[in-house]
Amino acid sequence: MITSKELRKKWIDFYVSKGHTDIGAVSLIGDGTTGVMFNVAGMQPLMPYLLGKKHPAGTRLCNVQGCVRTVDIESVGDSSHFTFFEMMGNWSLGDYFKKEKTAWTFELLTQGFGLDKDKLCSTVFEGNESVPRDEETAGFLKELGIAENHIFYLPKQDNWWELEGTVGTPCGPDNEWFYPRHDKPCGPDCGPSCGCGRYVEIGNDVYMQYRKLKDGYELLENKNVDTGFGLDRMLLFLNGLTDGYKTDLFWGAIEYLQKVSGKVYDEDATAQKAMRIIADHTRTGVMLMGDVNGILPSNTGAGYILRRLLRRAIRYCRTLGVDSKEILGVASVFIDEVYNDAYPLLVEKKAYILDELLKEIERFEATLVQGMKEFDKCVNGLERKNAFMAQSNPDYVKETVIGGKQAFRLYDTYGFPVELTEELAAEKGYTVDIEGFNAAFKEHQEISKANVAAAKGGLESHSETAIYYHTATHLLNAALKTLLDRNINQKGSNINDERMRFDFNFPRALTAEEIQAVEDLVNEKIKEDIPVVFCEMPLEQAKRENFTGVFDSKYGDVVKTYSIGEFSKEMCGGPHAEHTGLLGKFKIQKEQSSGAGVRRIKAVLIRE
Ligand code: ALA
Repeated sequence: MITSKELRKKWIDFYVSKGHTDIGAVSLIGDGTTGVMFNVAGMQPLMPYLLGKKHPAGTRLCNVQGCVRTVDIESVGDSSHFTFFEMMGNWSLGDYFKKEKTAWTFELLTQGFGLDKDKLCSTVFEGNESVPRDEETAGFLKELGIAENHIFYLPKQDNWWELEGTVGTPCGPDNEWFYPRHDKPCGPDCGPSCGCGRYVEIGNDVYMQYRKLKDGYELLENKNVDTGFGLDRMLLFLNGLTDGYKTDLFWGAIEYLQKVSGKVYDEDATAQKAMRIIADHTRTGVMLMGDVNGILPSNTGAGYILRRLLRRAIRYCRTLGVDSKEILGVASVFIDEVYNDAYPLLVEKKAYILDELLKEIERFEATLVQGMKEFDKCVNGLERKNAFMAQSNPDYVKETVIGGKQAFRLYDTYGFPVELTEELAAEKGYTVDIEGFNAAFKEHQEISKANVAAAKGGLESHSETAIYYHTATHLLNAALKTLLDRNINQKGSNINDERMRFDFNFPRALTAEEIQAVEDLVNEKIKEDIPVVFCEMPLEQAKRENFTGVFDSKYGDVVKTYSIGEFSKEMCGGPHAEHTGLLGKFKIQKEQSSGAGVRRIKAVLIRE
């Protein structure tokens, strides 16, 4: 047995012994340069260097880099699909090339990992109109002792590596390494590209010598090497396993789920699938929240993917018959036992991660039961209609599509990601009208936009300055709550272009120190330049998420909310500054009484 911790170390030690520098891993969240949300390949952060920029750590680099690929979330549940994985990589930036690389991969596989050189297979690029056949790599492989009939020439779809859908990125032909799981060929031609599953691809060396153009390729200045061996896959294979959840990366989480559910992973297919989904999605959730650029569940972008993952895990807790708060236990196994060495930041952020997980669990649990009832109603409605129609018309074709509006209601009111509704529908043999869903979504957005415009219209006579003062009242309100008393609330406010006035409940005058502290905290939040986020949501949801209301207003079923990070969360009609950095410097001019138990602060924003 080799453990994940040993495997990471072995990889790094080997390449360090060949003159490489361990550059460590970077954030899992995409940096926006390639348009991808997450880091999907070990080479992604190194792109500028592969294209010619000088890397501060030199020309020989290695690391183990976490990657998140969420294209097939729905496939997770089998033995081999995961949304997070680690890529063991090493790079030559215009340094060594094919001769050294083939030799080192061969050495590590045979001597380092004890693979039999007579069983190793290797595939190289067969060539096409733009790039020649890779005889060079094949030649080195033969020199190393790999038999000619274990070297295969394959076309671009197999032996060419590039980031699909991108332009201007480095790419090139690759040399892939395969090993048989057992000694029984399916026929005389059994080899790496045959579908019988006997050969496992264990990794690849990409000879990144080209730049991808809009159509075609051009030679790069440097001849680079980009190697990637999946840690998760390698671990599986080296330990003679076929189920990815049985490596030490997952087994602790599975054991935890067995214990709390009383079900046995190997004996109950439904429970097994649920355990896999809960484990995989929780792991990725932990990684995304605990990342250096950590994200939280939300309704857009990467935050939405995270929400989808967590809500799918929560739903499968029901299937497994465990309380969804057990996700925290699963998360703890990953943080404390599995990734504690490789990702120390997770340990540091553990309390925060568990807290945020709990919040998302509570948010979804609050609507899940009701939402499931709604979903059942949709299905039952269709079933009744189908049964009724079939009675009178033998040729009647059953309706099996859940309407877009219904799916949107499940999304908007009950927080069901539409993919979750689709998955639930599929389990009943139904589909969802996605076009209809998108149309309903768009219509809703337009209504929201119109509302914002209307709210702005109401303040038209107010200047930009007045809008900034309005945002400042939210910051002031939050600062008072944070520093003096959680129960403080706005009792009134008056804004013009010169100053703001803010009344709030508090039994005594503020001390000079308190005034200073409040002012400092508001200025700190301005400096942090936090985006002011507008969101419309059901009143109940806003209350659950601790949005505070001002005065004792009557609110409708749906309310407008503004949040400034986690610092300030208010129900409010707006409008507001887009981000706090616009406000300038906040200065309290006066603090005085404004009636029994009510204080008044006058303040200004000083803008250069
Ligand atoms: N960039 C190559 C891969 O991701 C090494 O497989």
